[in-house]
Amino acid sequence: MGDHEARQSRRKVLVEATVDEAARVAAELLASVGCEASAARGQFTLALSGGTTPRRLYDVLAGPLQMEKVPWHDTQVFFGDERDVPADHPDSNYRMAREALLDSVPIPLEAVHPMLADATDLDAAAADYAHRLADYVPAGPDGVPVLDLVLLGMGSDGHTASLFPGTTALDETQQLVVSQPVPALGRDRMTLTFPIINAARNVLFLITGRDKAEAVKSVLDADPAIASRLPAGRVQPADGQLMFVLDHDAAAMIPHKRT
Ligand code: 6PG
Repeated sequence: MGDHEARQSRRKVLVEATVDEAARVAAELLASVGCEASAARGQFTLALSGGTTPRRLYDVLAGPLQMEKVPWHDTQVFFGDERDVPADHPDSNYRMAREALLDSVPIPLEAVHPMLADATDLDAAAADYAHRLADYVPAGPDGVPVLDLVLLGMGSDGHTASLFPGTTALDETQQLVVSQPVPALGRDRMTLTFPIINAARNVLFLITGRDKAEAVKSVLDADPAIASRLPAGRVQPADGQLMFVLDHDAAAMIPHKRT
């Protein structure tokens, strides 16, 4: 079996009837990974995604049924990407995660690591974030920090984190965190790069909505040449588990049975 086939065999695609069901399943998977990490290594290192989709997941995680299931006291929270705005700005991924989740769970403030994506010197801020990851997240044999779980969303253009089509970050092989202008947005974005995302033990995509269906079909294509045309299709954990939790609308163009 080749590398691609081996990765495909490790990939899990779950389709749920509704956004709420998808959020609940994603919360269960996140909690399961967290408990395993805490039991095995004494900590759970997690990178959260931004945008609107994960908000429902964060609401579920902050709820009474889920809160006790995640080892928040052992958890270090990082971010997959951030917008070039202050931490209290309405567009901030950190602010969204803080309001929807982090303010409601028993995680120490010092265990939450926002990206300073509005710093004056963005390259220095990106390098500092990479150093912080290295300080808290044990590295694998190649020296890259191995996050227990990277939570990702996907845009209808197939971007994930802030790895947008046509940007230089897609070709980054050394730096774990970069900040770059995103022409499609007319703004700068800071983002984890493929080297650290693909080193993770678990990568969980939570994708909902009919507007994502075309990109989902491409990203899940069995032909790696097709899948890798989109940034999300280049998320291919070297040894880790790749999971997709979709709602029925996002899965509209792929063969699936509702779980
Ligand atoms: C961000 C996210 C980004 C997001 C996609 C999907 O900063 O916006 O990290 O990668 O996951 O843009 O966004 P929605 O969930 O809002 O569709």
